[in-house]
Amino acid sequence: MITAGPTREFLDPVRFLSNPSSGKMGIYIADEAAKMGADVLLIHGPVDVPIPERVRKISITSAEDMYNAVMKNYNWSDCVIMSSAVADFTPTEKIEAKIKKNEDELLVRLKRTKDILAELGKNKGKKILVGFALETENLEENARKKLHNKNLDIIVANLQSDRTGFRSDTNEVLILHRNGAAKKIPLTSKRKIAREILKIIAMEVI
Ligand code: CTP
Repeated sequence: MITAGPTREFLDPVRFLSNPSSGKMGIYIADEAAKMGADVLLIHGPVDVPIPERVRKISITSAEDMYNAVMKNYNWSDCVIMSSAVADFTPTEKIEAKIKKNEDELLVRLKRTKDILAELGKNKGKKILVGFALETENLEENARKKLHNKNLDIIVANLQSDRTGFRSDTNEVLILHRNGAAKKIPLTSKRKIAREILKIIAMEVI
């Protein structure tokens, strides 16, 4: 099971909070995994690139939708790769009618969404759990914390810049394993990065 893209957290019927994730990284991982012979289910938010025919897919909108879709399919999967940029906060209430600009200031109250990967980590069993960490500083340190706190096998850490992270066609990643091993993949296309990540995951399966 692979997740990709952003989620959208609606404030009212015409406005949402989201992030610039294009979904490319997760979609390329899904496509390459299917080419390698895996039975792939891709759960994705609103993405910028087409979903390959060879991949089964479920389209979702919000972090809550993604949580429900992932939980429903968790038993079926033996490896979960969470490359989606799930919103960490959602409005405490969704206004049913469009918010009108009556006031000079608008205060929006947000609440935390569920951390999907952390929930999966609590019920890991023999499954392989792979997370992503998008950081703007202290890449390795922050990613190692997430690897440990979410009980993951592997974390793929990347920095946000013009050529890496959200939207870009390229990426540069540091792949950290729970056993302490680390592998840096220098700047290259997201499709090549996808293959490298899958090679490392395949070693877990063998
Ligand atoms: N993730 C998740 N559920 C969330 C938020 C994040 O499953 N509600 C997953 C992401 O898909 C990713 C990993 O957790 O695989 C790390 O996401 P990231 O945004 O880098 O970090 P957070 O855990 O959200 O922590 P912070 O925002 O404080 O850096």
